[in-house]
Amino acid sequence: VKDKELIRDSWESLGKNKAPHGVVMFSRLFELDPELLSLFNYSTNCGSKQDCLSSPEFLDHVTKVMLVIDAAVSHLDDLHSLEEFLLNLGKKHQAVGVSTQSFAVVGEALLYMLQCSLGQAYTAPLRQAWLNMYSIVVSAMSRGWAK
Ligand code: HEM
Repeated sequence: VKDKELIRDSWESLGKNKAPHGVVMFSRLFELDPELLSLFNYSTNCGSKQDCLSSPEFLDHVTKVMLVIDAAVSHLDDLHSLEEFLLNLGKKHQAVGVSTQSFAVVGEALLYMLQCSLGQAYTAPLRQAWLNMYSIVVSAMSRGWAK
């Protein structure tokens, strides 16, 4: 129960500014694993991190990811209702060449973004609460990936 409060309270303001926070998250992702850049093959080519961050399709994807997180936060009481959606999403990522290990790196980037945005409010229990929720999301995506 405490976990859910920590997550909802911390997402309240972040969720209103999805694009900029998502950009912080993906900038961190490409620092952690630059090879992931090559998986974004949009019309505006993502040759470098800067190219990627200025590509409209890439920024759309950033927002898509933030919307999935937003959906998870709003369904904390019934995350299983997202199961079908997440299975499908995992399968789509398998098709575009994203490995399941990369989902974990996105998790690290998510925590980094939370830390940057929340400052002092980023505590060990808050970090753990987010990790727990994100691992439920990733576990469903990974099951869909492997199907
Ligand atoms: C679609 C790449 C992680 C959510 C896509 C597409 C690509 C892609 C290439 C298809 C083109 C597009 O819609 O822009 C990646 C890479 C990731 C990653 C390289 C990181 C390693 C994630 C994560 C989430 C997510 C963690 C959500 C938690 C979505 C959504 C779509 C999408 C919602 C649209 C699916 C649809 O069209 O139905 N991703 N993705 N992605 N991705 Fe990701």
